[in-house]
Amino acid sequence: MKIARITLSDRASAGIYQDRSGPEIERILGEAFSTGITWNREVIPDNRQEIEQLLIRLCDADACDLIVTTGGTGPAPRDVTPEATRAVLERELPGFGEVMRVMSFPTVPTAILSRATAGTRGRSLILNLPGNPKAIGECLPMLLPAIREALKHLRGE
Ligand code: MTE
Repeated sequence: MKIARITLSDRASAGIYQDRSGPEIERILGEAFSTGITWNREVIPDNRQEIEQLLIRLCDADACDLIVTTGGTGPAPRDVTPEATRAVLERELPGFGEVMRVMSFPTVPTAILSRATAGTRGRSLILNLPGNPKAIGECLPMLLPAIREALKHLRGE
């Protein structure tokens, strides 16, 4: 299985602080999937064109099964991950973002600031997560059953 994790952060990509979110995605998915995973690891700035080009390459050329982004989903002017994601999606799966917001909200009222979405392009599933490593631990585990099922459908099983 090929999985790409992309950290979207101007500061992490410039080396101003260490990316802890990408490794957290890798830890959770590594524990969740027993099949061997080939990882593609990316840390890039919040640049819409760069994000779109990378997502297209990971889907169309590299044929990644799953692409998980972290960061850039909030309301700040530089947050463009959902726009870049929607621009490359063929079909949106809005339930992933909806569930993250609804389930997190009772304990994290700021969860509704994330505009994260998900969807498919070809046989690839693209999923946005918020940028905070703590948020990844709060959101990604509850999405695993739906991720597994979506991957089966995309493989045509
Ligand atoms: N969701 C959970 N579960 N936990 C969090 O700590 N942080 C929120 C929100 N969603 C958070 C969360 C905050 S403060 C913001 S600004 C948005 O995610 C967007 O974060 P991002 O721009 O880093 O993607």
